[in-house]
Amino acid sequence: MKAMVTGGAGFIGSHVVEQLLARGDEVVVLDDFSTGLEDNLRAATGGDDSRLRTYRVDIADDTAAAIVRQEAPDALLLIAAQSSVKVSMRDPMEDARVNVIGMLKMLEAAKASACRKVVFASSGGTIYGSVDEDRLPLREDYPTAPVSFYGVTKAALGHYLAVYRMQAGLDYAALALGNVYGPRQSPHGEAGVVSIFAGNILSGRPCVINGDGRTTRDYVHVKDVARAFVLATERGTGLMNIGTGLGTSVNEIHQLVGIRLGTDLVPVRGRALPGEVRRVVLDNTTARTELGWEPRISLDEGIVTVLDWLRTLPAGHPSAPRPATVTSA
Ligand SMILES: NC(=O)c1ccc[n+]([C@@H]2O[C@H](COP(=O)([O-])OP(=O)(O)OC[C@H]3O[C@@H](n4cnc5c(N)ncnc54)[C@H](O)[C@@H]3O)[C@@H](O)[C@H]2O)c1
Repeated sequence: MKAMVTGGAGFIGSHVVEQLLARGDEVVVLDDFSTGLEDNLRAATGGDDSRLRTYRVDIADDTAAAIVRQEAPDALLLIAAQSSVKVSMRDPMEDARVNVIGMLKMLEAAKASACRKVVFASSGGTIYGSVDEDRLPLREDYPTAPVSFYGVTKAALGHYLAVYRMQAGLDYAALALGNVYGPRQSPHGEAGVVSIFAGNILSGRPCVINGDGRTTRDYVHVKDVARAFVLATERGTGLMNIGTGLGTSVNEIHQLVGIRLGTDLVPVRGRALPGEVRRVVLDNTTARTELGWEPRISLDEGIVTVLDWLRTLPAGHPSAPRPATVTSA
C-alpha cells in the first residue's frame, strides 16, 4: 500500500512511519519540521529510506494539496497538527489555520485523488471536555464539549470527516488518542510528562507539577498508538478511543519515574493550567472490536523505554537531557 503520513517527522508520526515501513508499505511524509526532526525519520527508517519520500511543506500550503493529488496515496494519515493546547489558547487563529484549514485542504485533496481511507489523529484528552467522572471510562458516544480551542478543532474535524464520508464516500477512522508517551517525545516540550520528568530527573533538575497533581490521564505507549494507526488504514471506521482504560495521576507518574531512577526528589508545585481537563480515561472497546487492537505495553515497561532512549541520546541531540545550569549570585 502507498501510505502518506502528514507529521511523519514528529513523535507519533515517526513511529507510524516505522511500522508502515515494517509492513512493507511505500511511505510518503509531508512535514514542515516545525516540531518534527530529521533524526526521528532516520530512527524510523533505520538508515534505509529506499521506500520513503519526504516533502518539507506546510499542510495549509496549496503545494501540499498538490502533492497529495500527485502522489495519490491509498491511505492518508493526518497526524500533523498544531498540537499544543497552550498555543491554541494564546493563538486560536494559528491553531485553526493548521488544524482546520490545513486539514480541509488535505481532505479535499484526498477526495480528488480517490484515496481509500483517511486516518486522523484526534484527541481523547480534549474533545470530550470536562467530563462527568461517573461516566469514566468514556465511550465514544459521550458528547463532545471541549474546553480548549485545540479541543474544538479536533472535535470539529470529527464532524467534517463524517460529512466527507456521507457526501463523498471518503472512509475514515478518527483515533481519539489518550496521553501518548514513549521514545522520541521531547523532554523539553510543555506536554509529555513522562519524558519531561525523566529528562529532569536524569539531569538533576526538580520536576514542576502544575496544580495539585491529581490531574488524571490515560497514558498509552506510542508503539501501541502507532499500531492502531497502521491497523486503521485497512479496517475500522468512525471515532475510536485509543487508550488503556486506566487512569494515572501526574503525582503517580512522578513517583513511578522516580522509583525507576531510584530517586525520591520532591517536586516543585506550579499553578494549574487554563483549559486543562481534570480526569480522562478512555474506554477502548470500539478499537478492540473495529481494529482488533489492544494496548500491549504497561506503563512501567513504557517508562523504561523512555529512560533507555534518553540515556542513549548523544549530547547535542535536541532531546538530550540538559544538565542543570548553576548560576552564581
Ligand atoms: N502526544 C499526544 O499525547 C497526543 C494526544 C492526542 C492527540 N495527539 C495528536 O497527534 C498528532 C501528533 O502529535 P505529536 O505528539 O506527535 O506532536 P509532534 O509535534 O511531535 O508532531 C507533529 C508533527 O507535525 C508537523 N507539523 C506541525 N504543523 C505542521 C504543518 N502546518 N504542516 C506540516 N507539518 C506540520 C511537525 O513538524 C511534527 O513533525 C497531533 O495531531 C496531535 O494533536 C497527540
